Amino acid sequence: MNLILLGPPGAGKGTQAKFIVEKYGIPQISTGDILRHAVKERSELGLKAQAYMESGALVPDDLVVSIIRDRLTWGDAAKGFILDGFPRTVAQADALAVMLSGASMAIDHVVSITVSVDELVERVVGRLTCRGCGRGYHLKFDPPKTASVCDVCSADLYQREDDREETMRSRLDAYAAQTAPLIEYYAAKGLLRPIHGVGSIQEIQSAISSVLAG
Ligand code: AP5
Repeated sequence: MNLILLGPPGAGKGTQAKFIVEKYGIPQISTGDILRHAVKERSELGLKAQAYMESGALVPDDLVVSIIRDRLTWGDAAKGFILDGFPRTVAQADALAVMLSGASMAIDHVVSITVSVDELVERVVGRLTCRGCGRGYHLKFDPPKTASVCDVCSADLYQREDDREETMRSRLDAYAAQTAPLIEYYAAKGLLRPIHGVGSIQEIQSAISSVLAG
């Protein structure tokens, strides 16, 4: 199964990707995670992407398209994949379509998660991320068992640079201007599976499971 998780920052894409990985045994491919790793490593890609990410803007299409072009050739993606945070512009979606058709592959579902702006801001501003394994937590909605320590790998938890409220507002603007048009784009192709993203993490998980099973 080849999936796209579409939604604004804080919609729960990364959170929900984890159960899909476990249930279907397919990899989560997150352009945000790949870019953050590149920034941490100070690689050429990271140096090019850093300023865009810190300001809440999208990284240029050619950079993220080449990340995905490379990542989809890895062996684990042959049995299916979850694209988390890609595509984010119509140009990226067009490039993905060309890439997949050249490899005789296709997207099966675009799971589009919607959440109100106020809740998105609360979720992102309260988010904590593990420095070791990258698992996400929330101070109120999904706290770790021990404050500031990851339940899974015991590494410390930190707040992402771009999770401050002002930067979050810029990310929301970028989403509205550049990514939201993909909802119509995929609806027109009959691939859109809308999910109301408010409720417990388990409730959203059940809604996504039903859509994927249907
Ligand atoms: P990226 O890392 O992709 O960030 P994002 O899309 O802004 O998404 P987030 O990771 O903030 O949110 P999420 O939907 O995964 O929510 P989560 O599950 O963590 O991108 C970062 C940057 O990289 C971009 O701004 C851009 O610069 C660049 N970039 C990446 N991809 C790009 C691309 N394709 N093109 C160009 N640039 C690109 O949940 C959020 C919080 O809410 C967590 O704390 C979680 O515990 C909590 N939560 C989750 N579900 C619920 C629930 N049901 N109820 C209550 N709380 C919940």
